[in-house]
Amino acid sequence: MSLRVAREMRRLRAGGLMLSSRLPIVLASLLAAANIALVRSQPQPAGSAPRIWNDADLADWATPVAGLNVRPAHISAAEYYALPGDNLRTYPVYHPDSEPAGYWEELKRKKPEPLVDLSKIRSRSDWIAAGERAFREVDTFWSRTDDPAAIAQARDPQSFQNGALKLPDGSAHGPRWVVTPKGLMLSWVACSNCHFRLHEEGSITVGGPRGARDRTGRGSVNPRVPGAQGSLPVLARYFVGDSAATIAWRMFSVPWAPDDRIEKIRDGGQQALSVLAAGDPGVFHRPHGSPYYGTKVVDLQNLHYSKYMDATGTHRLRGPEDVARYAAFISGADPMDFGPHRMLSDEQRRLRARYADEVVYAIGMYLMSLEPPTNPDLAPQAIRDEGESLFRREGCVNCHVPPAYTSGKLTVAAGYEPPADHPNRDDIIRVSVGTDPGLALKTRKGTGFYKIPSLRGVWYRPRLLHDGSLASLEEMFDPARLQPDHVPGGWKGPGITARAVPGHRFGLALTPEEKRALLVFLRSL
Ligand code: HEC
Ligand code: HEC
Repeated sequence: MSLRVAREMRRLRAGGLMLSSRLPIVLASLLAAANIALVRSQPQPAGSAPRIWNDADLADWATPVAGLNVRPAHISAAEYYALPGDNLRTYPVYHPDSEPAGYWEELKRKKPEPLVDLSKIRSRSDWIAAGERAFREVDTFWSRTDDPAAIAQARDPQSFQNGALKLPDGSAHGPRWVVTPKGLMLSWVACSNCHFRLHEEGSITVGGPRGARDRTGRGSVNPRVPGAQGSLPVLARYFVGDSAATIAWRMFSVPWAPDDRIEKIRDGGQQALSVLAAGDPGVFHRPHGSPYYGTKVVDLQNLHYSKYMDATGTHRLRGPEDVARYAAFISGADPMDFGPHRMLSDEQRRLRARYADEVVYAIGMYLMSLEPPTNPDLAPQAIRDEGESLFRREGCVNCHVPPAYTSGKLTVAAGYEPPADHPNRDDIIRVSVGTDPGLALKTRKGTGFYKIPSLRGVWYRPRLLHDGSLASLEEMFDPARLQPDHVPGGWKGPGITARAVPGHRFGLALTPEEKRALLVFLRSL
């Protein structure tokens, strides 16, 4: 919001309007209110979705990569819309014990149905409801298979024994049936494959942060189940023509800052893909990231408090359309071009599938509507108040500004000096919290920044910091984590058992009573 206001102000000034010293504040708040009204009062008309892939909104969407000072390229709107959008409803794969009578026969008779049915959407709440279903059920194009052996295996009681996670209703989390114009296929969930939280009793919440799975000790996805995201046949459909080793290398190689450990992956065999396993359920190595600099599977339930997406703020978050674009981008509309560096072959770079605008826009509306659940188990008000005053005294409020508990700004990673004319300069604070700079500087997600995360919902967050190194607030506010013999409670890194978790030294010098009060306050947000 403040960026838009700032831009507005500059425009007004450039237009020769003279402003008194008091007026700008009034004007700014009027403009801000007008902007809010604009966003809130213009729901998409019934029966249509916005064209989310448009060159104007894409132009300043991505944050430049620090090492190159260029924005990653995006494919043009013309190329994007040359392909028809995919909008197909998917259906549960049941554990053979639990499949309702006649289910399979009925599925085989089904015709393709839309996942998001535009004709039924009339209001904002219709969009959100459609988006919730889409986020939970939409499948990955690259997982689809009509291979009879794979289909038989998905319905075989044997393969389920150690296979996909069984939900309380007897369906599997992961595999889905999809009825396509070419017939019934086995597929796999897209977004909810990673963005879910498993509860003790075996149910899941989609959108919630990842990490509870370690407490129950149960696996969620098993790459031996056909169609699984991250399995070789699925990756090979996207990375056409590549060996397993080349796929793994292509995901992480940084030509402008080569890392020997990544370059060596290319010489490996089929087992090269094992670098994808983060060794911690709260972390997933996305393409453009690195097995050596983790990315936490973030909580999406506080998304609307942010102004940027990803820990390194790779993309602006201006509204549901940006979330829709992000969904499209990570699902195949990413040419992986960085200035002169092309990460994909011509065939891989071509857009080969995309979701219909209504699918990704509904997901955007849904994710932006989420609010983190409130803590049902609050400590007495007096201790919370004491914690809140410590939160102010220790300067936390400067960055974690209430009520969002983030200012939405980008802090610089240790060692990075952004250029004075950086296009995101209005959102940058030239302060480093000193956490591990690897993700922000040595990967293709490397904007040079770490965004200030919202602390809303921090009470149930199973992993802390961008790389998920820490597993609790107690661990975060214990100075022992700065020592090299510390055993991180979360993600450790390949082959590492003990290491320091540096940076973010705020609140580390509190007395035990003060620390208790601060944590009680944090757990009330
Ligand atoms: C393979 C696992 C995986 C899948 C599948 C996945 N995500 Fe994510 N998602 C992540 C990780 C890990 C991050 C954090 C990345 C980072 O910080 O750089 C993330 C970040 C995000 C963010 C940014 C949130 C924030 O606050 O910064 C959004 C929005 C998002 N995902 C939406 C989606 C949608 C929509 C889909 C489905 C189209 C999806 N994701 C599929 C793992 C996944
Ligand atoms: C200069 C800005 C700044 C100040 C001051 C600050 N923080 Fe942070 N905080 C950050 C940034 C940036 C991160 C993310 C760092 C990363 O992931 O590498 C963060 C992360 C956190 C996290 C982890 C959240 C998550 O989901 O990973 C908690 C909790 C937190 N801060 C609490 C506090 C408290 C309590 C204080 C005061 C004692 C404080 N912060 C002071 C900028 C700040």
